[in-house]
Order: sequence, then C-alpha cells, then structure tokens
Amino acid sequence: MHTSLSTGKSASVPDAVRQQIMAHAQGQPVHQVVCGPWSEMMDGARAVRTAVFVQEQAIDEADEWDDDDAAAIHAVATNLAGLPLATGRLIHAGLAPGHAKIGRMAVLRSTRGVGLGDLVLLALMGQARQMGISHLSLHAQVSAQPFYARHGFTPQGDEFDEVGIPHVRMVLTL
Ligand SMILES: CC(C)(COP(=O)(O)OP(=O)(O)OC[C@H]1O[C@@H](n2cnc3c(N)ncnc32)[C@H](O)[C@@H]1OP(=O)(O)O)[C@@H](O)C(=O)NCCC(=O)NCCS
Repeated sequence: MHTSLSTGKSASVPDAVRQQIMAHAQGQPVHQVVCGPWSEMMDGARAVRTAVFVQEQAIDEADEWDDDDAAAIHAVATNLAGLPLATGRLIHAGLAPGHAKIGRMAVLRSTRGVGLGDLVLLALMGQARQMGISHLSLHAQVSAQPFYARHGFTPQGDEFDEVGIPHVRMVLTL
C-alpha cells in the first residue's frame, strides 16, 4: 500500500511501480532503451528535451525543434513503467556517406548519474554501426565533454557558442 497523492488516502501500489521495485531488488535492469523514427519516439523525446533543454537550460523552443528531428533516428530510455527519462538522436540524412551526427542528448536531472546517458549514447552508436556509419561527430556542451571523451570522442577545433552555451565539436571513428 502507499498514500495516493491525488486522494491523500491509502491505495494499492500500481503494478508498474511494483514491477520496478521488484526488478531493482532482484538486481535486474530497471531501464530500457528503444530506437526508432520521430513518428514513434516523439512523445518520449519531446517530454525529456522539454524538461532538460527548454525548462532547465532555458533554450528557446524555436532553437530546440528543427527539421532534423523528422529524418533522425531517436533513442528514448524509459523505466519499466514506460516513463521517458533520457533521449538522443542520430542524424545521417544530408551528410556524406558513412558520416552521422549525434545530438540532443538529455537525461532528466533527477535521474542523472545512474548510467542513462551511457545507455542512450551506446544505443545510438550501435545504430550507427548497423547503418555502416564510420565517422561520428557531435557538438558537446563543454560541461559534457568528459562524458563523451569516455566513449572515445576527441575534441576538434576551438570552442564556439551555440544557443548561448559554450560547445566543442567532437569526433569518433567507429
Ligand atoms: C551529459 C548527460 C547526458 C550525461 O548523462 P548521465 O545519465 O548523467 O550520465 P551517466 O550516468 O550515463 O554517466 C556515465 C559516466 O559518465 C560520467 N559523466 C556523466 N556526465 C559527466 C560530465 N558532465 N562530466 C564528467 N563526467 C560525466 C559519470 O560520472 C559516469 O561515470 P562513471 O561510470 O565512472 O560513474 C546528462 O548529464 C545531461 O542530460 N545533462 C544536461 C543536458 C546536456 O548537457 N546534454 C549534453 C548536450 S551536448
């Protein structure tokens, strides 16, 4: 039993929450990541990016949403209850053959530091390999540069401003 926030009375623990707690207690994975087109992933990706980029980082909505979303492959990580927690995208359309860009990597602030960023980045790198991509690049927020460096990305060129935040281009040969 738990106390329902909506009624203030005791209520049964929802099945999805019970499943999450049981999996955690048994040492089983409590997150999953799925990759797909914008048409299938937009609800989850939008929820996370709105919370992280628009609300937390105060990036203008006009800068956040662009035409690349429709052509990109998106990864969304959820908990066992289906709640979206993290996302990122892989863009290959319009680039040279064998090249792709990773972007819009975001993890809800409350769930950072438990491996969700890794889960999404590895899923996108796996997608890239399956597509025969050998050259990956991204624009890293300077504060996140060490996160990408752990996966072998190396900085290229000087820092630059993008949407008011210092960035650096990073590259990886798969
Ligand atoms: C950057 C971000 C995606 C990382 O996601 P995360 O879920 O917190 O990262 P993980 O838990 O998977 O971290 C994996 C490892 O990277 C390290 N790491 C994560 N972010 C780091 C950072 N900014 N600097 C240094 N190390 C970092 C973690 O300590 C962890 O190391 P460990 O395995 O040795 O403990 C997340 O912090 C985020 O969404 N930030 C806000 C939005 C943002 O800046 N996006 C990047 C745009 S380029």
